[in-house]
Parts: sequence; structure tokens; C-alpha cells
Amino acid sequence: MSAILTAENLKRHYEVGGGAFRSAATVRALDGASFALEPGKTLAVVGESGCGKSTLARVVTMIEPPSGGSLAIEGREVGPDGAAKDRDLRAMVQIVFQDPYGSLNPRQTIGQTLMEPLMLNRPEIKAEERESRAREMLRMVGLRDEHFDRYPHMFSGGQRQRVAVGRALMLEPKILVLDEPVSALDLSIQSQVLNLLIDLQEKFQLAYLFISHDLSVVRHLADEVMVMYLGRPVETGPKDEIFAHPRHPYTRALLSATPVADPRHEKTRIKLEGELPSPMAVPEGCPFNPRCWRATDECRREFPPYEGERHRYACYHPIEE
Ligand SMILES: Nc1ncnc2c1ncn2[C@@H]1O[C@H](COP(=O)(O)OP(=O)(O)OP(=O)(O)O)[C@@H](O)[C@H]1O
Ligand SMILES: [Mg+2]
Repeated sequence: MSAILTAENLKRHYEVGGGAFRSAATVRALDGASFALEPGKTLAVVGESGCGKSTLARVVTMIEPPSGGSLAIEGREVGPDGAAKDRDLRAMVQIVFQDPYGSLNPRQTIGQTLMEPLMLNRPEIKAEERESRAREMLRMVGLRDEHFDRYPHMFSGGQRQRVAVGRALMLEPKILVLDEPVSALDLSIQSQVLNLLIDLQEKFQLAYLFISHDLSVVRHLADEVMVMYLGRPVETGPKDEIFAHPRHPYTRALLSATPVADPRHEKTRIKLEGELPSPMAVPEGCPFNPRCWRATDECRREFPPYEGERHRYACYHPIEE
């Protein structure tokens, strides 16, 4: 299967500070990510808070332009203006955020919420057709016709997230970026929304970029997993490979911190020492080296080259077992 989206060395840096008394600094929020998305498949992105997952989501969704590297969707290169002018390209990638309360306009009915993307992007579609598509979508995300004229505050968190998913699908995108889409929901509701996402993916052959800190969710849903650390992927590969044979010490530590995700390693739990460094002061060499129990001098000198093909990792001393 060929990729629908490819990212090469994708970067997003922010300049911060730089007032009268302070010099400006660069936050390397996303610092070189390469990966591909395939139709009907899920690439899960995992890593500690602040490692650049939401930044990646914004760049892929073209909310923000990349500051370096390249992003291509169906072979079309996204320009430095983040494809602002290319309506069709933008429509192809949609996003669902974590917070189902903040992401819906409280003054719009569910019907208006669903119809709005069509009004803005497809003005040639007649009102009647627009409404019938919105009603059809309501059904597809598991809501009922009488919900059409209700307001967001009348819904539960899970129902609101269904609306957010429906809205994201109104322009018939091929790629959905899901940034912690179930993290704010009760456990019992999480699996319902995840199952909806699985059904919709199959139905429309959607490619998912699925961001989650919950490794049991990732294990359930992902085809491929990308582990990020301080703005860079340190290990990427098929889900089963990553869970059963993590090569990068960071991946190993991340998995062993979650017994549910990794029952085998319960006895060899690795405690991650130290704090995640600031992306304003990324350590030289492998960014994980200050916390890594396998680090040597070469790890402090240069970012390790990626090894492997489908299962890739950037480590001078990968775990072999
Ligand atoms: N607009 C911005 N200006 C400056 N720094 C930013 C900006 N956006 C993000 N950052 C910084 O970039 C880093 C990555 O942030 P990001 O939100 O992508 O992390 P994340 O992996 O999504 O974290 P979480 O799991 O907490 O959601 C953080 O250190 C953050 O403070
Ligand atoms: Mg985030």
C-alpha cells in the first residue's frame, strides 16, 4: 500500500522571549520527524508530555507551517505557508482534539456544527443537500436525528466527541489526526468512542495519526507506533514489534512504566530517572542520554543514525533480546 502522507525531517521551532532583558531562545518542539501514513491504517504517536505530539498534530493538519523538512499529501508538497491557499489539500486532513467541551461552539446547534464546514468550504452545495449530509453524518457517528437541533451542553462528553468526529468527517477527509481523543472521557465511554473510530476508519479507509499517552489504547488500535522524545522519533515500527521487542532504551522504559501494556516486563521495571529536559535546551547527541543507563561517550556527541527498515530506531546501544 502506498502512503497517503509522507513527512521527511519535519520540524517546528518557536522563537520565545527576546524582551529588553532577555535574549530570544528557540524551542525545538518538533525537531525532525520522518514517517508515512497509509490509507486505512493507524500510526500511534506516544511519548511524555511536552515531547512535541500536539505540535506534530498542528503541522500535519496545516494549522501551522513546518519550519523545516517536507510534508506531502497524496504526493502534493505542502508549501511554507502551510497550504493556506490550497483548500482541497486542507480539507483532506482534519483533526479531533482531546477536549470535547472546548472544541464545539456552545452557541451552535449540533446541526449547524456539522453543516458549517460545508458552508465554508463547499458553498456550491445547496442548503437541502447540506442538511441531509449532516443528518446522515449524525447517524454515522451513532447519534439520533432528534439531536440535530440540540446544543452541545445537552450532551455527554462521549456524545460531544462523536459530534466532533462527525464534524471532522464532513469534508470527506482522507486523514484524521486524533490528539488524545478519548483521554478526557470516562473509561466506559472510551471504548465506545474507540470502536466508533475503528468502524469509521474501515468504512472510509481513513488514515489515522493517533496521539495517546495511554499505551493500552495504543495497543488496541495501532498498526504502527512512533515513540517520540524531545521533538524526535526515537523508534518507529509495527505495533507488535515495538511492544514485544523495543530496541530503544527510552521505549523500553516507557513500556515498563505501564504494566498493563507490558505484562512480560513487570519484573524488570525500569524507572525513568530525572526530568524530561526542556526543548529549549536539548542535550547534545542522543537527547535521551542524560537519563539513559546504557549511554556512553558517543551518545553524548551525535544523534545516532536510524537503524533498521520497517522497525527503525536511533540508538548506539539498542536492546537486543
Ligand atoms: N506556540 C508555542 N510557543 C512556544 N513553545 C511552544 C509552543 N507550542 C508548543 N510549545 C512547546 O513545545 C513543546 C512541545 O509541546 P506539545 O504541546 O507539542 O507537547 P505534547 O507532546 O503534545 O505534550 P502533552 O502530552 O502534554 O499534550 C513544549 O515544551 C511546549 O511548551
Ligand atoms: Mg499535546
